[in-house]
Amino acid sequence: MKGIVLAGGRATRLGPASRATSKQLMHVYDKPLIYYPISTLIHARINEILVITTPAQVSQFEELLGDGSQWGCAFSYAEQTEPRGLADAFLIGAEFIGDDAVALILGDNIFYGAGLGEQLQAFTDPDGAVVFGLWVPDPERFGVLEMGPDGKTVVAIHEKPADPPSHFMVPGLYFYDHSVVDVARHLPPSARGELEITDVNNQYLGQGKLAVSTLPFATDWFDVGTFDALLDAQSWVAGLQRRKGLLIGSPEAAAYREGFIDADGLRALAAADTHTGDLVKSGYATSLLRILDFEDG
Ligand code: G1P
Repeated sequence: MKGIVLAGGRATRLGPASRATSKQLMHVYDKPLIYYPISTLIHARINEILVITTPAQVSQFEELLGDGSQWGCAFSYAEQTEPRGLADAFLIGAEFIGDDAVALILGDNIFYGAGLGEQLQAFTDPDGAVVFGLWVPDPERFGVLEMGPDGKTVVAIHEKPADPPSHFMVPGLYFYDHSVVDVARHLPPSARGELEITDVNNQYLGQGKLAVSTLPFATDWFDVGTFDALLDAQSWVAGLQRRKGLLIGSPEAAAYREGFIDADGLRALAAADTHTGDLVKSGYATSLLRILDFEDG
């Protein structure tokens, strides 16, 4: 399975902080926001990844992430000239996807939870589509699951409904077979003129090909779209990392844990002679190396 990180958009809700940069390049405590969704894909054991950004920022993403080989990955880049909706990612990424299955993760979604990697790895060869459901107190802000009379079977997904039919929202991580490119090509734009991911998912649902997997209540999930959400995510990462001494959302640590790089590869990433020694000076390298103690006892 391949992966796409959608990191386009104008981030108007973060103005003026987002004027000269991209939201997904902003830092969430000690690392750029885009590190978090990339590490989620790595935990799903996906390492062929297309990063979709705005034309103005693509060179910055390339400078930050490179070709991915340092993390045992292969990164490529594509541009989204206008925000035409989340499902536009499958049109931009059509050639990249080819005949393979693909996971789409939104560049501003942070996921963290015990066993999440294993849960995701189970869906990397889907027959149709797989989406997730997470209980939240404010579902009206998101895509929301509607269950049938048995209270379990999903009968529809509603995008930001005024009167949500359940408390289960659909977070920004979706798995599809290669037919998603065709689905996106034939998708009519919504009332706001965008290709909606919820419409894609409802198409699969109509064909009986949508699986819904509930995330455990203890899953931490953030959609980092506003200053308050950014601050909440920052404090959460800082608190957890300080208490645990390990990094959250680190592609280096994820790549080591999923076997994409070995211990020597991790040590090399942490070494002072790479990237002007910035990881050493910031303390990130020390935290990175702790993963070796943690894993190896
Ligand atoms: C998008 C999707 C929505 C999903 C949300 C998750 O909304 O349209 O269905 O629940 O991402 O972050 P947006 O954040 O683009 O408004």
